[in-house]
Amino acid sequence: MSAEILNGKILAQNLRMKMKEEINALKGEGIVPHLTVVLIGDDPASKSYVNGKKKASSEIGMESDVILLPESTSEKELLDLIDKLNHDEQVHGILVQLPLPEHIAEQKVIEAISPAKDVDGFHPVNIGRMMTGKNAFLSCTPLGIITMLKENNIEITGKHAVVIGRSNIVGKPVGQLLLNENATVTYCHSRTRDLKHFTKQADILVVAVGKPHAIGSEFVKEGAVVIDVGINRTPDGKLTGDVDFENVKEKASFITPVPRGVGPMTIAMLLKNTIQAAKQIKG
Ligand code: GUN
Repeated sequence: MSAEILNGKILAQNLRMKMKEEINALKGEGIVPHLTVVLIGDDPASKSYVNGKKKASSEIGMESDVILLPESTSEKELLDLIDKLNHDEQVHGILVQLPLPEHIAEQKVIEAISPAKDVDGFHPVNIGRMMTGKNAFLSCTPLGIITMLKENNIEITGKHAVVIGRSNIVGKPVGQLLLNENATVTYCHSRTRDLKHFTKQADILVVAVGKPHAIGSEFVKEGAVVIDVGINRTPDGKLTGDVDFENVKEKASFITPVPRGVGPMTIAMLLKNTIQAAKQIKG
């Protein structure tokens, strides 16, 4: 079998077109969704992500601004800024780009953002709401994965989903969202014994390990749906995933490539959450 390629770039483009229309309608009611991104320091990868977010928002008519602060910014200065943005009625969504410099406590910053403006879905209030299946901002990469599965009519109910990786940003929430969609979920991670034993049972395999080509076809069941969340740079500067795409695609039924897979969906979901935030503040 040769897998169908799940093209996240095209799907994200289509979703953004729909969002553009939605924003136009909101503008008619006097609401312009507005995202504020805060970036501390000058890490090139973070800068590139932040620029991507800004470009995508302006393309659909969303207001966005990027607040660039020096690496030396204190925790208090950042918390004061977040407090100001929480109270700014023009700002609907706040995103503080991670990772933060070591002298700033990440969890403190995440918890300082108003849950109503937490378009990353990282605040414990939103995580708790996600776990209880209630109206929440869902973190963007996991939501992008579920959206990709649904938009391609891939059944989730009753399927065995195996998630490799247990980060707060991807692994844990994607497992929870798959459970909310009635999958049977197994989490695997760096301490899992006999990884293959579990991954070979997966109808849906989500790979978020952060190691290039860590998952080859010997880990994959014939006909599985394989979602690659990895974004790794090869020595010659190219992007590559955590899955050995060329071999695994011969065994899977569906597979996401890297690039043009999950990545573009993450940004699209950020825009979706910001529109949701603007609508809720209005309501
Ligand atoms: N750094 C890498 N991914 C993300 C993300 O989704 N949100 C934030 N805030 N920072 C990130």
